[in-house]
Amino acid sequence: MRHNMSFDLLSEDRIQSGLKTKLFGKKIYAFWSVGSTNEFAYRRALQDEQEGVLVIAEEQKKGKGRKSRKWDSRFNKGLWFSLILRPDLPAAKAGLVPYLAGISVAEAVEDVIGLKADMKWPNDLLLSGRKFCGILSEVEFENSQIDFIILGIGINVNHKKDEFPEEFRDQATSLRIESGSRIDRAQFLAEVLVQLEKNYNYMKQNGFENIMTRWQTRCPQFGKEIVVIQDDDTYHGTFEDLDDEGCLLLRTRSDELIKIVAGDITF
Ligand code: BTN
Repeated sequence: MRHNMSFDLLSEDRIQSGLKTKLFGKKIYAFWSVGSTNEFAYRRALQDEQEGVLVIAEEQKKGKGRKSRKWDSRFNKGLWFSLILRPDLPAAKAGLVPYLAGISVAEAVEDVIGLKADMKWPNDLLLSGRKFCGILSEVEFENSQIDFIILGIGINVNHKKDEFPEEFRDQATSLRIESGSRIDRAQFLAEVLVQLEKNYNYMKQNGFENIMTRWQTRCPQFGKEIVVIQDDDTYHGTFEDLDDEGCLLLRTRSDELIKIVAGDITF
């Protein structure tokens, strides 16, 4: 019997063959299909799985986005993965880790396809104003410290336009659409993991300051007028800063400084 196996599969061997990290991805759980890589990784971390373990799937049946949204994770098109991190950080710093992840993906995009990705608060990555990557981190605390973080990253890699759900077609893009050519997902993942490990080690030595500055320089809305939607409330103001826990500080038109913990921005 002939099988059409013309698609590339993200096997453990393929990922590890080009991987130049010391820790990230040295142990991999690679699935054909899974509910959510974040959920699997969370369960493993509760069983004391070590830092750096990668959980990846060709498809997620229940891919999770921010604010209990669904993350479209169709088979063989993207990179849907989670990393287990165990940083020795106070609980208050947990919200900064997604920023580190965002710039790591952006730097990998720049290195591999030469395009400059923009950051959109809190943790979306855009090319040509459209989203190609989302980040969902889930944290387990132990007293006032972080026990572990599940860093979940979804990257639209080889989708063509009609391979997005119709309702997202105007807002979503993929690396293939933006670069004009098909991307080797294993190679691209290897570059993301290298950047993540580099920035993570840097943060452990030097803290988050430089990472947050690099994030800000990639965020076109930083210092500009934005609209924030938080549950049933809408705020207009200037994106003045990020605080040391990663919250957005919005300067309203009545000159109040409001701290936004979670929300969506438009501009
Ligand atoms: C968002 O922008 O809403 C965040 C999307 C995060 C999606 C990734 S895909 C891998 C990991 N597993 C999940 O269930 N979600 C994250």
